[in-house]
Amino acid sequence: MPKGEILAGFLAPHPPHLVYGENPPQNEARSEGGWEQLRWAYERARKSLDELKPDVLLVHSPHWMTQLGHHFLGVKKLSGKSVDPIFPNLFRYSFALEVDVALAEACCAKARDKGLVAKMMRNPNFRVDYGTITTLHMIRPQWDIPVVGISANNSPYYLSTQQGLDEMDLLGKATREAIEATGRRAVLLASNTLSHFHFHEEPALPEDMSREHPFDMTGYRWDMRMIELLRKGKTDEVFRVLPQFIDEAFAEVKSGAFTWMFAAMGYPQIPGELHGYGTVIGTGNAVMEWNLAKAAA
Ligand SMILES: [Fe+2]
Repeated sequence: MPKGEILAGFLAPHPPHLVYGENPPQNEARSEGGWEQLRWAYERARKSLDELKPDVLLVHSPHWMTQLGHHFLGVKKLSGKSVDPIFPNLFRYSFALEVDVALAEACCAKARDKGLVAKMMRNPNFRVDYGTITTLHMIRPQWDIPVVGISANNSPYYLSTQQGLDEMDLLGKATREAIEATGRRAVLLASNTLSHFHFHEEPALPEDMSREHPFDMTGYRWDMRMIELLRKGKTDEVFRVLPQFIDEAFAEVKSGAFTWMFAAMGYPQIPGELHGYGTVIGTGNAVMEWNLAKAAA
């Protein structure tokens, strides 16, 4: 079997508002649109992903929370209705997905080899979280590529940020080894928002874009600083300031997907391509791509 490889990684945030704004048939709620800049950013990312033709999409979501260890979807076919507990008015999505169980098992085994607590999720009626579903829908609405879903252990929240992110670094390295050993051509999806302070009241019309803007200037400045570093390929500097970004902008990257993805890719010092930036209920969201296949060519 030829050695597998990571073709690309995407920063692929999961506000359910983006699915709501698009009105796909799977979502019950109907909208007049909204959050177009981010949805158009995802359109560009979709085109890029389509050209990569990966065997599998791996997604790490902050909204599948597991207190004990890192869990992996381990049932070949999962379907049901995913509902956002905070925004059930916007997101009630009927999903059906196929899991690459062999790769998930390899990731789990490699994670254990590195000393992490890791477990396969074998419940056939499991309701996949809205973070996983939103990211996967926004990047590949056809649902025709198998996936590996990875939970957020949330260790950065009950240990220290640094201890938690160190675990995510190990999880990323384990993921890469599993991809290489199984011969997969894989794309990684870090389902994370950047600055994460948000409004607490919803407009009467949720998609009223006259009410949408950054929550505050601190978060916006941080987002621009981080995006600029990422666009320049200054990955070392990004990870040097990451803990301060997390503290000062309440950044959702704390939950680990971003670190997991970069660790798996080997922290490449290559420019990330920004497909677009926008806010959702005040939080900062960037859709970005690190195309390792293109960089190698
Ligand atoms: Fe989130």
